[in-house]
Amino acid sequence: MSDEWISIAAPATTSNIGAGFDIFGLALKEPYDIIEGRRIESGIIISEISGPGSEGIPTDPEKNSVSIAAAEVLRRCEADFGIEIKIKKGIRPCSGIGSSGASAAGGAYLAHILCGEKLSPTEVVLCAAHAENVTSGGFHADNVAPCVLGGFTMIRSYEPFEVITITPPEELGVVVAMPDVLVATKESRAVLPQEVSVRDLVFHVGNASCLVYAMMTGDLGLIGRSVKDAIFEPARAKLVPYLKEAEAVAMSHGALVSFLGGSGPCIISFYDKSSHNGEAIADSIKALYAENDMGCETWITECGTGCKRI
Ligand code: HSE
Repeated sequence: MSDEWISIAAPATTSNIGAGFDIFGLALKEPYDIIEGRRIESGIIISEISGPGSEGIPTDPEKNSVSIAAAEVLRRCEADFGIEIKIKKGIRPCSGIGSSGASAAGGAYLAHILCGEKLSPTEVVLCAAHAENVTSGGFHADNVAPCVLGGFTMIRSYEPFEVITITPPEELGVVVAMPDVLVATKESRAVLPQEVSVRDLVFHVGNASCLVYAMMTGDLGLIGRSVKDAIFEPARAKLVPYLKEAEAVAMSHGALVSFLGGSGPCIISFYDKSSHNGEAIADSIKALYAENDMGCETWITECGTGCKRI
């Protein structure tokens, strides 16, 4: 049995993307977690966790997203070995850009490689989604699907599980702005309405359909017009100080659209790389928070290809 260490980069993802609550997801290039692992005789050990927010991440393998996802892969593959894991967080927890999703996807992908890649990509997603369910209190795969598969993903159905991935337009740039406020997914799901009106349903289906068409055809203008959410972001806006103001400054500095990332607090802005470099958007959001005595970290990034061995 080889005990060689291997390293996986598991990227941030943005989910929901307007009208696709728990359905749409997009892999980003940055930031990302690094999950390292090697085979051991038996069991799962987490020997190191470092990086932003790591002090609050459980080292108990039964409570940690990385190890829960890895254990599920070992179980499905009937593996006769265990794994020692080191976690280097690049994505702060409670960010809204899939921090726990990256951990879960990275753990599942790591174990998948150590098992000799016996599972299908969809099975790897399901192992990661199992960990999300245990740690975040809801079975949603809209972060782990793009994190494993890359690109823009759509979950057609959870029961039975079916996920489709497409390659987003090359020119689609992404600015991630993370204000200094923590929003836990559980807390952010607790404020959501349990029923929606037919009027909002019609609005969401129209925008969701057109967003998929625009992603497939590379119509950036239509992407900008189709990222709309009449239900979930309005319910969550109170959890993120200056959300509307940040979206407005992003729009006035060249964004195609600016919206709440996943369950928040990150603010995601799409821009056209052929005419902008994203800096004005990032700087304007940072300045807005600074004027209000709040810090805000930003990344100017693009769409990514998901987990990879580095
Ligand atoms: N779709 C999930 C939500 C993503 O919005 O609650 C959590 O990051």
